[in-house]
Amino acid sequence: MRDEQARAILKRNDRGGYTIPTSGLYPYQWNWDSAFAAVGFAAFDIDRAWAEIETLFSGQWNNGMVPHILFHVPDDGYFPNHDVWQGTGPIPSSGISQPPVAATMARMVLDKDPEAGRARMAALYPRMVAWHRWFMDWRLDQGAVCVTHPWEAGRDNAPDWDAAMAAITPDGVGDYTRRDTSHVDSSMRPTKYDYDRYIWLVQRGARLGWDEAAMLQDTPFRVADPTMTFILLRATRDLIALGQMLSKDVGDLENWATELEAGAQTLWNTQLGCYDSRDVVGGSWSVSISNASFLCWYAGLDAPDMRTRLAEVLALTKFGVPSLSPDDARFDGKRYWRGPVWGMMNMMIGMGLTEMGLPQGDALKRSTADLIATHGFAEYFDPRDGSPAGGGTFTWTAAVWLAWASPNTQGA
Ligand code: GLC
Repeated sequence: MRDEQARAILKRNDRGGYTIPTSGLYPYQWNWDSAFAAVGFAAFDIDRAWAEIETLFSGQWNNGMVPHILFHVPDDGYFPNHDVWQGTGPIPSSGISQPPVAATMARMVLDKDPEAGRARMAALYPRMVAWHRWFMDWRLDQGAVCVTHPWEAGRDNAPDWDAAMAAITPDGVGDYTRRDTSHVDSSMRPTKYDYDRYIWLVQRGARLGWDEAAMLQDTPFRVADPTMTFILLRATRDLIALGQMLSKDVGDLENWATELEAGAQTLWNTQLGCYDSRDVVGGSWSVSISNASFLCWYAGLDAPDMRTRLAEVLALTKFGVPSLSPDDARFDGKRYWRGPVWGMMNMMIGMGLTEMGLPQGDALKRSTADLIATHGFAEYFDPRDGSPAGGGTFTWTAAVWLAWASPNTQGA
């Protein structure tokens, strides 16, 4: 029954070649949401799965960047729209990117039917390499990948950005009307303090024409982030495998993987005994045991301390890996990225654990399946009691069910 509902959600959120995360709150194509949608579609419609990724890359900029939002059809119910972002690509878009899960998800789609997918993968491959190159050119600090806006990390409201955000004085941001709080309760959403700074950063990028070199000068916000670093490292390994399959020269990609692997170690916070975010401008650690910390296995990196941290966090919750440890004073079980559990984060962490031969991977899959079976396809969940939060009938939760968590899914 849940399988059928999950397929129905993907179809309902399908806008023709791309999927919206959920109607109302998120009426456009989001970057990593779409890559997850593709593996969901691959469970029942491979052609549609490829189309999802192809539409995403049709918004790629000349410099290789793939935007975090593509505004295919204007919608007054969303803010900030293209008039604020003023993206410079072929399709109206935002000016920042999002975690590059696309190559990894494309490889999973290809695995479902390698013959049928080969030509489509071959066409996407150089675009994916160009996107990875953009990260390597513009986003590294000592080999770790940085975000230039909290929304770039996909973990919008995580405490990881607090110090960098506090250093911004959002002068001249002007008046604006938020739309998010008319779709869901404001207790779940970022505060005005945060929103002023989000918009101020967008206005700065737009003023500079999203020119990366110009934005880098006197940058107010640059945080080296485990989400980005682990996900880019993993996706680069997947691109290497795809490139080899397509008989391409993967020398650059191999160098990038080596550089990123070294970069990941610069995210090790010795005092915390955990991978953590590092504010490159201000120099402080976030001191957060987050679900991004546990993406290390997904990136092929094991660390005994991380196994201990995982056991500690899982002992405090029943539904998978919370976005912030419940032990943390900043924990809030309902507020965006400050406590709740996300299905797609559980999936990536679980995949990594299973690939590394650790039994917690299967356990995580079962608890995610329980969570969705009991509480439905919400955007995210309160880790204390599993109660659904954020938007409903959510694309990536449906996709995670079909591609990974459902008891009927084979071999994931
Ligand atoms: C929120 C999430 C982000 C996601 C978007 C659409 O902004 O934090 O990760 O891509 O919603 O679902």
